Amino acid sequence: MSKKEASETTVEDEVKLDDLPGVGDKTADKLRDAGFKNLMAIATAPVKELAEAAELGDATAVKIINAARNNLKMGYSTGLEVMEKFKTMEYITTGSTELDNLLGGKGIETQSLTEVFGKFGSGKSQLAFQLAVNVQLPKDKGGLDAHALLIDTENTFRPRRIVELAEARGLDPNEALKKIHVARAFSTDHQIILAEKISEFIEEKKVPIKVIIVDSLMSLFRSEFIGRGTLADRQQKLNKHLHMLQRMADRYNAAVFLTNQVLARPDVFFGDPTTAAGGNVLAHASTYRIYLRKSRGDKRIARLIDSPCLPDGECVFKVTGNGVED
Ligand code: GTP
Ligand code: MG
Repeated sequence: MSKKEASETTVEDEVKLDDLPGVGDKTADKLRDAGFKNLMAIATAPVKELAEAAELGDATAVKIINAARNNLKMGYSTGLEVMEKFKTMEYITTGSTELDNLLGGKGIETQSLTEVFGKFGSGKSQLAFQLAVNVQLPKDKGGLDAHALLIDTENTFRPRRIVELAEARGLDPNEALKKIHVARAFSTDHQIILAEKISEFIEEKKVPIKVIIVDSLMSLFRSEFIGRGTLADRQQKLNKHLHMLQRMADRYNAAVFLTNQVLARPDVFFGDPTTAAGGNVLAHASTYRIYLRKSRGDKRIARLIDSPCLPDGECVFKVTGNGVED
């Protein structure tokens, strides 16, 4: 069963939930209440989370997760099966052919985390808004005919800007606004809860979310965790958050787009001393990292960094009144 099908067959899965060994009526209800509504949700859950949600012992949780995985035929895959998974990946155009090419040809990828980092005004939020609009485009125009979900931690979401971007792409602006689901996050706890609620939201509202945006990923983490002694805690929390986002990307075959701030590295004297916030945890979690810089006028320079399957490279695009363009 493909991931897409798994998330779309909720009703059948709900029946099967009770059939899992160790899951009685009561446990099944608890699991559903906690948002574990189908086998895929259970199969991809961390043991501790499932145990807590359904008030089970760890051993029972492991048994249930394994049973769900067996049901979905998860486990070792052959290379051919992995190739099939790659075939289900979809893409959302950024609006710039140059930038799409930097990312492998078609834009940002589903089942992956794409991170852009750069200084203030480099165009990170603009790119995020553009993707929230472009995901709505038909497939022959580089979209996925779907909705966007946006976690806004800096209160920078601007509906009026969405109207402009939608009109420039020939979309009805009101329809475009209706297909962007925005939540403002006020603390890291809140930000984490919003990510945890994505499943519930998608299952309940039955909206086809194909891009999940966090703008910006690190701002609340950085303002709440100040000082060296707090770094380990912060990174642990961040790690959990990123894993949740990756699970959502896998479960719903959606793209995750993260914006991130930069730090000035005091140890770099030559070259560009800026580096992404979030440390190793974020560096490992991001499938694609793009460093954005402002150039002359409306020009922006994007550099792809440490991609597992693409060459490092640079490109130039523009942020104009119409949005992201070549
Ligand atoms: P921070 O969130 O502050 O770190 O910055 P950011 O990287 O998110 O910057 P953002 O995406 O908000 O980019 C702001 C820049 O985009 C502005 O300086 C403008 O150059 C450009 N921009 C934003 N809105 C418009 C617009 O309506 N028209 C045009 N032409 N450019 C815009
Ligand atoms: Mg911004």
